[in-house]
Amino acid sequence: MYKILLFITLNLFATFNCDRECGLENIICKNNSKYRSIDGSCNNLQNPNWGTKYSLYDRILNPKYGDGVHSFPKAISGKNLPNSRKISTTIYKQGMTETISKISLSTMQYGQIVTHDMSFTYLPPNSIPCCTTNLKMLDKKEVPKVCASIEIPNDDPVYSYINATCMRMVRTITNNERACSQSLKYDEQLSEVNSYLDLSIIYGQTYKDHKTLRTFINGTLLVDIRNNREWLPSSVKSLCTGNFNTAERCYRSGDPRTNQNPQLTVIMTLWVRNHNNIAKNLQKMNPHWDDGRTFEEARRINIAEHQFISYYELLPLYLGREELVKKKILYNTDEFVNDYDQNMRPHIYNEHAHSAFRQFHSLITGKLSVYNPDGFSYDSILLRDNYNRPESLEQYKLFDGLIRGLSMQPQMESDIYYDPDVTQCAFLHAFKFNVDIKAIDIQRARDHGLASYNDMRSYCGIKRAKNFTDFLDVMDRDKLDFLLSLYEKPDDVDLIVGGSLENNIKDTLAGPTFLCILYKQFYKTRRSDRFWFENEASGLTLKQLKEIRKFSISKLFCDNGNNITLMQKHGFLPVSERNPRYRCKSINGPNLHWWKE
Ligand code: HEM
Repeated sequence: MYKILLFITLNLFATFNCDRECGLENIICKNNSKYRSIDGSCNNLQNPNWGTKYSLYDRILNPKYGDGVHSFPKAISGKNLPNSRKISTTIYKQGMTETISKISLSTMQYGQIVTHDMSFTYLPPNSIPCCTTNLKMLDKKEVPKVCASIEIPNDDPVYSYINATCMRMVRTITNNERACSQSLKYDEQLSEVNSYLDLSIIYGQTYKDHKTLRTFINGTLLVDIRNNREWLPSSVKSLCTGNFNTAERCYRSGDPRTNQNPQLTVIMTLWVRNHNNIAKNLQKMNPHWDDGRTFEEARRINIAEHQFISYYELLPLYLGREELVKKKILYNTDEFVNDYDQNMRPHIYNEHAHSAFRQFHSLITGKLSVYNPDGFSYDSILLRDNYNRPESLEQYKLFDGLIRGLSMQPQMESDIYYDPDVTQCAFLHAFKFNVDIKAIDIQRARDHGLASYNDMRSYCGIKRAKNFTDFLDVMDRDKLDFLLSLYEKPDDVDLIVGGSLENNIKDTLAGPTFLCILYKQFYKTRRSDRFWFENEASGLTLKQLKEIRKFSISKLFCDNGNNITLMQKHGFLPVSERNPRYRCKSINGPNLHWWKE
């Protein structure tokens, strides 16, 4: 009898252990830590590993896997959905982008910073072959299970000229492959970064990584000094797959995508410099603070400034200020906003990361203009030459020229027109083959089994379409014609495709279905963060919070460029009569004297 009981108990225990939740393991929370952890653990005290590296994406709607569990979604007829590359070349016209002068390129680039801070599909290693070396599809019997390469149609307008028929793609790692959360009925994908908007892109995802980014002196982050300026520390060259030779620079920071494109690396460098400036000022005011205290206080300020810029300056341009206030994503207040909800998971919605937010790949421009101090563009570098190749940043005066470019160059419209550097010339030098980021986006959304456009429409309160023409309530006839030429039934239309064809709602960069997802995500991101800068639990005093609210993207540019002297007050908007350039000294910012002890 005793033996039987012991067997049952052990077995129950074994089952419990086997079904460990995805995310980091063996977390021990320090009681009442004043500061957020580096890896996101213990933000939620009831569920300490919520939002940590290797957490699952959340879902708004149940998935539509072909086999209900893992395989790519199928059309209602049981056939394959239209080819992702075919959709890309049919709908997302290349090289016909219109610019809009209302918004600066910094808006696109900061959007990428926000997304990198929130999620990153956890992928198998790059070395797995998913195409032959001469870019043909592998024989079906030889295809590794993790591959989901896109078969390029024979009549492809670009790749048929080089006889390529295979665009490499690997499937995202799921709970099943990592043997976590195994009681789920279907596959859920894992994110490689923590979900909080906490600048983990510069501070690291785990304590192990983090330690390699610190000096442990006076609260500063590790930098290399060259020409009297701070640069991100050097990295192993393998991270910079676009470099032409091993002498070229390569950087490391808290995120594996640090070197992906020059403007991204510029902003990451600015945040590291900003941390160090804050730390130096705090140390001067509080010489009795040790390295740890100075570091944590500087980090708290840096993250608060980032959260403030992201929500109060950037999101209104993407999602419309009025609606954001109405939906309680933003507040018109000088006080704290104590809206933390411990029952809300910080995890990123699959539909957000793999459909709605990717819409903004349409904003990317391939030509990055370089501006002189007088505000004139005198040079440019091309994205296609600089994927995973940050070499240009330290070239003569280019760093500041690119910062001015971010603030002055108009960004592209959010529409169906894509820069060829996104759909034809992406990562050529990096992977020795051009990929089409739009086709990959569609393929990735299918890899994750996302619910259909029609399902999401009805979830968002838009009438479910019975016929294709029912889609005309939110899109124009020419867009509908694309869908008619590609899909058999309204229920077949991919969310990422249907959503991208909707007319943008006034004062926003997206149509109603994507907006519905984006609002839901950004609401969740603020309310699920116990250390959100407007929460009293963040550790800021009200006086300090008021100072944080004086920060701006322009201040980030002014304080941390090499020698930026002039800047408009609204750095996400181009220079105009209403947004003229001022001396940097007159651009307001937080006064740190409220941190003096
Ligand atoms: C030059 C700029 C950019 C480049 C080169 C770029 C490139 C990429 C690439 C290669 C991926 C991964 C594709 C895959 O394998 O699934 C990706 C993912 C993504 N991108 Fe971008 N992107 C850029 C800007 C942006 C912007 C401006 C936004 C939004 C405002 C954005 C949102 C996203 C999102 C949400 C993901 C998925 C994140 C995740 O893995 O969870 N990207 N991007």
